[in-house]
Amino acid sequence: MCGIIGYTGKGKAAQIMLDALELLEYRGYDSAGIALLNQGHTQILKSAGRVKDLRKLYAGQKPDGQCGIGHTRWATHGGVCDKNAHPHRFGRITLIHNGIIENYRELIEKYHLQGKLESETDTEVVAAVVERFYTGDPYSALRRTVLKLKGTFALAVLFDDQPDKIFAVRNVSPIVAAVTDGGAMLSSDVAAIVPYTQDYFVVPEFHVVSLSPEGIELFDLSGDREEIEWMKADWDVGKSGKEGYPFYMEKEIMEQPDAVRETILPRIRNGKPDFSQEGIPDEMFVDCKRICVIACGTAMHAGLVGKSLIQAMIGIHVDVVMASEFMYNDPVVDKETLVIAISQSGETIDTLEALKFARKCGSPSISIVNVKGASIARASEYVVYTNAGPEIAVASTKAYTTQLAVLYLLTARMAMARNLWDEKKLTGYMQELSRVPEVMEQVLKTKEEIHRLAGVILNAKDVFMIGRGLDYSILLEGSLKLKEVSYIHSEAYASGELKHGTIALITEDTPVIAVVTQDKLKSKELSNIREVQSRGARVLLLIKENEALEEGQEWSCVYRLPKMEDSFMVMPASVVLQLIAYYVSLDKGLDVDKPRNLAKVVTVE
Ligand code: M6R
Repeated sequence: MCGIIGYTGKGKAAQIMLDALELLEYRGYDSAGIALLNQGHTQILKSAGRVKDLRKLYAGQKPDGQCGIGHTRWATHGGVCDKNAHPHRFGRITLIHNGIIENYRELIEKYHLQGKLESETDTEVVAAVVERFYTGDPYSALRRTVLKLKGTFALAVLFDDQPDKIFAVRNVSPIVAAVTDGGAMLSSDVAAIVPYTQDYFVVPEFHVVSLSPEGIELFDLSGDREEIEWMKADWDVGKSGKEGYPFYMEKEIMEQPDAVRETILPRIRNGKPDFSQEGIPDEMFVDCKRICVIACGTAMHAGLVGKSLIQAMIGIHVDVVMASEFMYNDPVVDKETLVIAISQSGETIDTLEALKFARKCGSPSISIVNVKGASIARASEYVVYTNAGPEIAVASTKAYTTQLAVLYLLTARMAMARNLWDEKKLTGYMQELSRVPEVMEQVLKTKEEIHRLAGVILNAKDVFMIGRGLDYSILLEGSLKLKEVSYIHSEAYASGELKHGTIALITEDTPVIAVVTQDKLKSKELSNIREVQSRGARVLLLIKENEALEEGQEWSCVYRLPKMEDSFMVMPASVVLQLIAYYVSLDKGLDVDKPRNLAKVVTVE
């Protein structure tokens, strides 16, 4: 959480940083601030609120400088107010931070900082410790400081007497850095860097990096210089803008056919699933006795769909574990458990820690990640990148469907490696998978119709979503989407579970969204729907086109989904659920892309 940026060079640091902070704002948007270092003088501008508020502050003062650091905050220690906004300053040190310093209270005691700090943050304490150790050598001060810190951190630091230089160091929380035309930049992620260059590197943990207009230097904690491992971002710069859509969420929903295409096409060779570019050996798929998927939020919901596919088609047991709970349930993973970690950002700390634990237990691992070079990608044995491009809206959409696309491919490869399917079955499955983008396009063409459907729940206080099997899995995601962007309370229930308690909440006019896409479950699902209708519920039904409905059953609305083979129906149905959530949020006049209290990248436990 929190976005950090640093720039030094020929350009106007403040403008560059403000633009970058807007691109990083999805990481946290409680407050924002910048510091500019100019001829030994550091000026800080910061305030609670959004980057646009910081821009106003800047317009009033227009401080000069070609070197600076900037921050957009998701509060952990200390409430949301001007004084807790970053940057923080102590003596000659100005600093921004992403992460949590767990031992900050001990540090306050140890270095007698009581009464000397202005904010309630753990970050200011770090600035004070750096100041304590600073005797003219920034590397030494940072080395000594980080050895005292417990927790996670990405720190970017200005020293008053180190003109034009930014220093940075990290543990777990990410920092990437790049040389730009006439300068150098660092950032929490590549989103802020790609407008300037495609070449960047991930700052290794516990290394000190220094940026100057002349370039970048990297040192390990013993002070030895290290070679930089450069990477290339393949994100299209143009794709970072809204391109005429009012919100990124809509743009990203609309991009799904292309994103899925980009994800599956490079992994189909001669009509068969192929992971040779990732180097994944078939033994991995053959030798495992069970699979454990670890992920959070939407990525975890993608895992649930993967579980249904793999159990049904491969016949091996799959657990899907919320990464945030993984460590607290005495996880049983071993060398026969294939661990699949799923994460859009590749930085979710719970997923990262769970993955590291599983690897220590000897589990082979594959991660499904969207951001190249992210921590989870680097911590797993093999990585399959979803080629979704930058996902900026906090609510995940195209990352989810591309994660599903990878899970479909992995399932097919596993079936192939285990000789489970004949040629005909494999060909049919792969042809159906290849059809997903065009089917999604068909749904997207009906977005105005879906907008009207969304009107049915616009003023609802509670919404229930019911379905069975795969339909239930995607409703969990549909419900999360609705909650996070519209603030309407909603619950997804396995329809068969309703009678065990929840049906007590269904009364006259309760809105219920029901998804019925699985032939083998249809009759049971429809009778569960009758049960809620008998209690007065208004049901919005998503069902396959041409599917017969009994006379006499009343529907609030029926949306006809383009038909695919049952196991692929989650793809068109998910798009409809995403659009419903989006339009409800839009029509309520909410900030769709930045729902309250949330951040795009969750790097604290
Ligand atoms: O970056 P990750 O995929 O690891 O993020 C996991 C969740 O935090 C994320 O999916 C979250 O649930 C989204 N806000 C949902 O839209």
